[in-house]
Amino acid sequence: MARAEKVREVEGQVKYRGLREWLDQVDRMGELLRIHGAHWDREMGSITQLLTERSKGTAPAILFDEVPGYPKGFRTLYGQFSTMKRVALTLGLPLEYERKSDIVKSYHERMQNLKLMKPRFVSTGPILDHVLEGDDVDVLKFPVPIHHELDTARYLGTADCVITKDPDADWYNLGAYRCQVYDGKTIGCQITEGKHGRIHRDKYFERGQSMKVAVVCGQDPLLYMLSASPLPEGISELEFAGGIRGEPMEVVKGPYTGFPIPADAEIVVEGEAVPGNVRPEGPFGEWMGYISDDVVPRPYINVKTVLYRDDPILTCAPQHKPVDETGLLKGIAGAAEVWKALEACGLPEILGVWNHEAGPATRFTVIQIRQRYPGHSRNVLHVASSCAAGAYNGKWTVVVDEDIDCSDLEQVLWAMCTRFDPITDIDIIQKAWSSGRDPVVLPGNFNNRILVDACISYDRKLRGKFPRVVEVSAELRAKLKAKFEKILASV
Ligand SMILES: Cc1cc2nc3c(=O)[nH]c(=O)nc-3n(C[C@H](O)[C@H](O)[C@H](O)COP(=O)(O)O)c2cc1C
Repeated sequence: MARAEKVREVEGQVKYRGLREWLDQVDRMGELLRIHGAHWDREMGSITQLLTERSKGTAPAILFDEVPGYPKGFRTLYGQFSTMKRVALTLGLPLEYERKSDIVKSYHERMQNLKLMKPRFVSTGPILDHVLEGDDVDVLKFPVPIHHELDTARYLGTADCVITKDPDADWYNLGAYRCQVYDGKTIGCQITEGKHGRIHRDKYFERGQSMKVAVVCGQDPLLYMLSASPLPEGISELEFAGGIRGEPMEVVKGPYTGFPIPADAEIVVEGEAVPGNVRPEGPFGEWMGYISDDVVPRPYINVKTVLYRDDPILTCAPQHKPVDETGLLKGIAGAAEVWKALEACGLPEILGVWNHEAGPATRFTVIQIRQRYPGHSRNVLHVASSCAAGAYNGKWTVVVDEDIDCSDLEQVLWAMCTRFDPITDIDIIQKAWSSGRDPVVLPGNFNNRILVDACISYDRKLRGKFPRVVEVSAELRAKLKAKFEKILASV
C-alpha cells in the first residue's frame, strides 16, 4: 500500500471524476491494496472477507490483477467502502469526524440544498473503447468471480448499477442488484419485491412486454453508492449524483437500450428480460451473513451487447457475516434518508441517526433526539421504522437521548440497559416488509419488528427526577487536562 498522504483538497466537494481518479485518491490516502495472482474461483472473495470481517472499519480497498486465465489489466475491485474516509471521499464530505454519526449529519445537510441535475449526453467516452455484439458477446471475457465458498455460480454483478426505465415515466432508476452468470450470453438479476427495478420489471411483465436493462459493473463509486441507497421513487441516481457533484454526469447512449450509460464506466452489459422466461437463481452468500436457501426461478437477461474500456475494472462486493464492506455504505446512506423522513414528518430535534454496521446496517437503527414533548420518542420510533428508507427488512429501531452517541454501541447498550422498561418502552410492528434474505422471515415475506424506547421517561426528565449520570464535568475535565497535559493528551 502507498504511504498515507493527507487528501485535504477533496473536503467539501467531490473532486475526483470516475473510478480511476477515485482509486488514485484512495492510493494517496494509503488505503489501496494491490494483489496479483489471486484466482476468480473463491480466492478474491475470501481474501476480502479475511481482511474485512474484523478490521473495525479499517480494511483497504483491494485491486486484484493478473487473475489466472485472464490478461493482465483485466482487474477486479473489492472493498470500496469499508472505511468512513472512503465513504466521505466519495460524497465529497470532510474526511474526519468526532462521532461516526456526524458523517450522516453532513450528508443529510448536503442533501437539503441539493438540486437534481440531468445527465449530459456526449457522443463518445471510454466505455465505447470496445463494443461486442452478436456472436462476440461474452460476459466471461472478464474475471467474473465465484465469491463465497458455498456459491455455485459466478456473479458478474454485485457492486453494480442496474439501469431500468419506468414504462410510465422518463425515470431511469439505478439499483445495485446481483447478477449471476449462466453462460457468456445469459445472466440473472435478482431484484427483491418493492425495489424500484422490480417495480419497473413488474409493470412491463404485467403488460406482457419485455424489459430492456443495462447493467453497469464498474463505475464512479458515487453512482454505485447511490444505487445501493434508498432514494425516493421517481428520482434517478444519475441526476442525484449530478446534484452532489455540482455538474452533470456525462453519459453516452447505450447502443442497444438507448439508455444513458455513464461515459467513463468500466464494463456495461445491455440486454432484455422476457416475461415468463425464468431460471433457478442462487444460492448466494447474502447480506445478512447467511447462504440463501431461496434458490428459486427468477427472470434472467439475454445479453445483447457488452461494452468495456481498455484494462477494465470489474467492481465487486460479496457480502458476508458482519462486518462487511457494505455495512458503512448502506448504513450511512440509509441513515441520512431516515433522517430526511423524520424531518419531513415534522419531528423536531433529531440529533443523529446511525445504522450499526454489525446489524447488518439497516437492521439496527438508532436515533438520537432531544425530547421536547411526551410521546416524542415514540413518534420517532414509528416514523423511522416505517418510512420508505427504514421499512425494508428492519429489525431493531432504538431511540436515545441527546447525551448518548447513537453511533457508539456501548453507549446505546447502556441506555437500553438503564433507561428502558421491557413492558412499557417497547412496541412491536407485525407483518412488515421483509424478504427471503431474512433467515427468520415469516410466510408471505413479512417480518416482525421491535421498537425500543431507551430515552429517559419524559416526565421524569422534565422534573429532574431521573438519577444523575456519573461523569467528569466539563470544568473538572478541562482543569485536569491542563494540569496533566501529557497523561490526558488522548482523552
Ligand atoms: C453489494 C450490494 C448488493 C445488493 N444486491 C441486491 C440484490 O441482489 N437485490 C436487491 O433487490 N437488492 C440488492 N441490494 C440492495 C439494493 O441495492 C438497495 O436496496 C437499493 O436501495 C435498491 O435501489 P432502489 O431503491 O432504487 O430499488 C444490494 C446492495 C448492495 C450494496
